[in-house]
Amino acid sequence: MFEEIKFEKINRLPKYVFASINEIKTAMRQAGEDVIDFSMGNPDGMTPSHIVEKLCECAKKPKNQGYSVSKGIYKLREAIAKWYERKYHVFLDTNKEVCVCMGSKEGYAHLIQAIAGAGDSAIVPEPAYPIHYYAFILNGANVIKFPIKSTSGGELDQDVFFASLQKALSENFPKPKFVVVNFPHNPTTTIVHLDFYQKLVDLARKERFYIISDIAYADLCFDGYQTPSILQIEGAKDVAVETYTLSKSYNMAGWRIGFVVGNQKMIKALQDIKSWLDYGLYTPLQVAATSALNGDEKCVAEIRENYKNRIEVIRESFSQAGWELPAPKASMFIWAPLPKIAQKMGSLEFSKRLLQEAKIALSPGVGFGEYGEGYVRIALIENAKRIRQAGRNLKVFLKKLENENA
Ligand SMILES: Cc1ncc(COP(=O)(O)O)c(C=O)c1O
Repeated sequence: MFEEIKFEKINRLPKYVFASINEIKTAMRQAGEDVIDFSMGNPDGMTPSHIVEKLCECAKKPKNQGYSVSKGIYKLREAIAKWYERKYHVFLDTNKEVCVCMGSKEGYAHLIQAIAGAGDSAIVPEPAYPIHYYAFILNGANVIKFPIKSTSGGELDQDVFFASLQKALSENFPKPKFVVVNFPHNPTTTIVHLDFYQKLVDLARKERFYIISDIAYADLCFDGYQTPSILQIEGAKDVAVETYTLSKSYNMAGWRIGFVVGNQKMIKALQDIKSWLDYGLYTPLQVAATSALNGDEKCVAEIRENYKNRIEVIRESFSQAGWELPAPKASMFIWAPLPKIAQKMGSLEFSKRLLQEAKIALSPGVGFGEYGEGYVRIALIENAKRIRQAGRNLKVFLKKLENENA
């Protein structure tokens, strides 16, 4: 008999908590049910037309059909550098401090593959976007976590953060080499200001660790808040890289365009590993991305405005159903404590029942780690009409829960 050969590495990844929600959702859709879907951070809007037109124009040219450049074509790296200069007054070396990626998730995962392995450890505050954590696990590194706490205004509680970070640094041997931060934060929507990065960079220089900062939601911020970049801090490039994506700001999630910038040693490691693993994004995609970054940012403002409107609609509709939702300062999500009546149920059971009985899909907080329990993440990827319909379905569902508990 053939004895089973185990694939130890892939088994380090647990079953995706979201998979159970996805399976129910798929089965319901196949049965013809109309699911109102707030589960994934997958923008529903159209990519701005000037970007699509540029892609189509370039896709017709024979010279654009071959292998591209794995670290990104020069014009795109130049557009990224100019974007940083315009937005953050940060100057980047287009060759040594910029690497284009097939979405920032790919960039992050390959960066970790290149720089971390067995014997290394990383600090990833939780709840977390799962790959922030599992990229290290997959590569045999150890992950230390502590809970993210925010103030009632949605800002990071820095006292708790730095106390937890100091503790994690001093109690773990060998000392953690990496700290991952992500603000505006997925899933909690927590934000930070520049003073946070100043403290973090100072600490990294003193304690000697590298920082990976993910600003996927940098452009989706409201009420005057502006997402800072860690690279605005003097000396940050000695210790930090930052990842960004066009997926959210330009409704380009399926295009898979992101980038990593900053520390030359980490960027070189990423450029090197990518040169072994891929030949770069299809050139027309890179040219279209160049026109997105060089172009008018009115389209980004419209996308931001759309999320802002949806936040208002959902808070009103769900409030009428008996569930008060907090207002996020940034991102395309609402991170909501479970309704009182459902608190004992836990986030996974609540999400499953909400899906099966009210046809509303969202993400259980526990899917982002144990510290996400008690919450759900609502992605604002349905239009106002369907949000209102969700509010009506929710009202009936919450009434039913009340009756069950009466
Ligand atoms: C925090 C965060 N980083 C990165 C990504 C991945 O973005 P991309 O589409 O560029 O891979 C996401 C996607 O949801 C995200 O939430």
